[in-house]
Amino acid sequence: MHKKIALITGARPNFIKAAPLLKELRKNPDRFSSILIHTGQHYDHKLSQLFFEQLHMPDPDIYLGVGSGSHARQTADIMIGLEKVFLDMRPDLIVVFGDVNSTMAAAIVAAKLCLKIAHVEAGLRSFDHAMPEEINRIVTDRLSDLLFVTEKSGVENLCNEGVSSEKIFFAGNIMIDSLTENLKTCQNSEILRTLSLRRQKYAVLTLHRPSNVDNQEMLGSLLKTMKRIGTRIPVIFPCHPRTRKEMSSKGHLNDDNDEFRIIEPLGYLDFLKLQMDSKFVMTDSGGIQEETTFLKIPCITLRNNTERPITTEIGTNTLAGTDPEKIMEAVDSVMGNAYKAGRIPELWDGKTAERIVKVIAGP
Ligand code: UD1
Ligand code: UDP
Repeated sequence: MHKKIALITGARPNFIKAAPLLKELRKNPDRFSSILIHTGQHYDHKLSQLFFEQLHMPDPDIYLGVGSGSHARQTADIMIGLEKVFLDMRPDLIVVFGDVNSTMAAAIVAAKLCLKIAHVEAGLRSFDHAMPEEINRIVTDRLSDLLFVTEKSGVENLCNEGVSSEKIFFAGNIMIDSLTENLKTCQNSEILRTLSLRRQKYAVLTLHRPSNVDNQEMLGSLLKTMKRIGTRIPVIFPCHPRTRKEMSSKGHLNDDNDEFRIIEPLGYLDFLKLQMDSKFVMTDSGGIQEETTFLKIPCITLRNNTERPITTEIGTNTLAGTDPEKIMEAVDSVMGNAYKAGRIPELWDGKTAERIVKVIAGP
């Protein structure tokens, strides 16, 4: 049977996860027609269009242009826009990615219209309900019919929540499909030259979790620690717009110097190259914990929990939290070359999209 499939994206990490699946679906035009929808949750060129270009994705078929807003407003705007689209096109399946507001909004609308839902990156749990993404993950998984999981903990979590095992598919990590696809191309990136950096002689920082950046005391403390680290090894900080806004209101943008460099968010290829050639990465991002594990680059996670435990168990990730001394301890370990080497998790092999499409195709 020919299937009409709608892929819903909205934020930076969604584009990276959707690209390999869209490509795989479009290899089979006889079996699938696919419609790419962009809600417009992220809209800056450096968080959106640039990823479409670098990942060779076609322009979205439908762009809702919802923009930023409070959780309720943004979720509601996405829902209103998607309801109309879904009613008009009646897809056989909608596919959502990750854990952003666009993911959950699409799942709720589809479920109420009795449309079948596939969730790529299902089952991850931080068990921290103060994290907006945890709410998005729980609601999306509860409503989904096909749950594609990246690591074994996801299968366990879903089973513990009573999800029928027939709906759960351990398919691997689709972000790693994009990464492996672009490993060679990213070598052409000029980012090290542009920033006058030498391999292994700098660290990378990203920060955008509300718990870290929306609270001025926490943000101030983290930045102070980062500047301390900067005296030992330059810290390069591609700054998310959410964080830039908070930093600008407290004058933190003036902290920029050779030891602590605040730059614009980078495109996918530049950021991949920057990670790969760094001494270590410090982050509160979800996806970057996984990419560093794949690249075998030490990752110091500035959070007390992770929904991606495999990266700490067998990968290169350490949960340092936000305590300055704990962070310094982890940095000491990396700088002293005493850090764990890490292994690549099962099925993070660049073939996840292929496995997902096999399941979507059905018997
Ligand atoms: C969102 C996701 C988060 C994900 C992150 C990836 C939710 C609840 N959060 O967080 O899980 O890790 O994306 O980067 O879905 N802004 C701009 N330009 C843009 C987009 C945002 O300036 O193109 C600014 C706006 O001030 C906006 C703020 O960033 O209010 C936050 O944007 P939003 O999409 O709500 O959340 P993120 O922090 O980006
Ligand atoms: N990323 C990027 N440029 C940057 C920062 C991150 O291309 O300046 C990529 C990164 O390589 C990863 C993804 O964005 O593939 C992670 O997205 P983000 O940290 O925004 O969201 P999260 O994974 O936390 O939801």
